[in-house]
Amino acid sequence: MLNTAVKAARRAGQIITRASLDLDHIQVSKKQHNDFVTEVDKAAEAAIIEILLTAYPKHAILAEESGHSGQSCSDYQWIIDPLDGTTNFIHGFPYYCVSIALAHKDVIMQAVIYDPTRNDLYTASRGSGAYLNDRRLRVARRDRLADALLGTGFPFRDQQGMDAYLKLFGQMTEACASLRRPGAAALDLANVAAGRLDGFFEQGLHFWDMAAGSLMVTEAGGLVGNYTGDTDFAELGEIMVGNAKLYAQMAQILSPYSKVNVKS
Ligand code: IPD
Ligand code: CA
Ligand code: CA
Repeated sequence: MLNTAVKAARRAGQIITRASLDLDHIQVSKKQHNDFVTEVDKAAEAAIIEILLTAYPKHAILAEESGHSGQSCSDYQWIIDPLDGTTNFIHGFPYYCVSIALAHKDVIMQAVIYDPTRNDLYTASRGSGAYLNDRRLRVARRDRLADALLGTGFPFRDQQGMDAYLKLFGQMTEACASLRRPGAAALDLANVAAGRLDGFFEQGLHFWDMAAGSLMVTEAGGLVGNYTGDTDFAELGEIMVGNAKLYAQMAQILSPYSKVNVKS
């Protein structure tokens, strides 16, 4: 199953890379304020779904642009973000990826994240570790928040939650060594798995932004949860990841900002 996901991710990567050579001719439309989709997102997604359903016609699909397809009653569900980091892609800023996960009875079992700009292929299978190309991945060992380089994403579709986020941003900036906002949540999670970022947090995410990356981080020895450290990150759309020591320190700062603790 992982091999099929890799084939699909590489195919989508080819479509994205070809399109990146002629960005002026890409048709962009708005899903909502500051939330864009291109014909490339859609073509990449269609190619992925075709490869997956040809191999596994009885599986279910949840994909960002086309929603649910395949067999809805299946125990197996593929979760697809065909192009994570669309805004970066549109601007030619080389930080975006394809993200594909497979869940069995709601447990993520396989994950592929492919960065076509670097030809970096991240893979993980539950219980068998996470890999970048052929190299086994481990999260970083840095254990003091004051030394940590963290990734984040901030509210951009609507400005809702911006005031609270800016307060959090200020607190976290003071507490850690530095913060980055690269712009593709799935790739940010892969970079935590690879030990390049010590941790990551973001809220307002969809399942397809987090599904593959969450397995990548746990298989690299990291922890994944919501801002309080509990496991229901997918339901809340907020994610915090890092090694065990940083996780606890991040939770101290993030917890008051968790959906669990904020009345909307
Ligand atoms: C977005 C990126 C971005 C994150 C957003 C996501 P998209 O995904 O991951 O970094 O901040 O919340 O929606 O729309 O480019 O697939
Ligand atoms: Ca995304
Ligand atoms: Ca996307």
